[in-house]
Amino acid sequence: MDEDGYFGDAVAKSYDDDHGGGDPALIERTVKCLKGLTGTGSVLEFAVGTGRIALPLRASGVDVKGIELSKAMVAELRKKETGPPMDVTIGDMTSAQVPGQFSLVFLVFNTIDNLVTQEAQIACFKNAARHLDKGGRFLIETRVPPLQRIPFGETKMAFACSSDHFGVDDYDLVTQRYSSNHVWMKGDQHQHLSIPFRYVWPSELDLMAQLAGLELEYRWADWERSPFTHLSESHISVWRKSEG
Ligand SMILES: C[S@@+](CC[C@H](N)C(=O)[O-])C[C@H]1O[C@@H](n2cnc3c(N)ncnc32)[C@H](O)[C@@H]1O
Repeated sequence: MDEDGYFGDAVAKSYDDDHGGGDPALIERTVKCLKGLTGTGSVLEFAVGTGRIALPLRASGVDVKGIELSKAMVAELRKKETGPPMDVTIGDMTSAQVPGQFSLVFLVFNTIDNLVTQEAQIACFKNAARHLDKGGRFLIETRVPPLQRIPFGETKMAFACSSDHFGVDDYDLVTQRYSSNHVWMKGDQHQHLSIPFRYVWPSELDLMAQLAGLELEYRWADWERSPFTHLSESHISVWRKSEG
């Protein structure tokens, strides 16, 4: 692994095509929901990546800044920019500081799981809270751990099996760590990627929020604010810093 973590040059260059999340309707719903939570303040995206969400959010008139570990991912964001460069701090979202206070900090696309210890996930909440105005919000979009789908005693679950992509997750139920293993095939070339993660339950996230001085305001199943139920496969949760 290099200084860009698991999102080095090769992954960054193919990220927008290979890693999903690029559906224009999904991006539109995401931007609309984030904008609705922002008010008149500025927004900070943790792990801004290639700007999949940050760039259209900014194009909609919101002042957006970012933190990102991988210079290679930010280089891809720069290629897509049309206006003045976005203020992106290269650093770790558990500790990097950005000048200013924000009405919304957000972390989407399951990226809380990229922090592979509970301590790092708590530090991420504390760093988000540090950047928030009074009454400001921290939003996370992430999946509900899909453990109900794994038969008792098994650890592996396939999530992709197509002519150009195989994917298998491998879970450790003791540590809550898992690895996501991909192989992409293009012509006679193939690219292999294995990324470590830590899954985290919604209730555990609520405790992390509490430790950071934040309180749950909303939990939805999707960007259209559908109710979260026992069948929801992912959630969008919003915690709020007190006004006091
Ligand atoms: C799944 S991508 C999401 C990118 C973007 N938010 C999006 O929605 O397309 C995960 C991103 O998290 C970044 N990342 C992983 N760990 C990080 C950390 N500790 N601090 C900052 N960024 C991190 C990776 O470099 C990568 O760009």
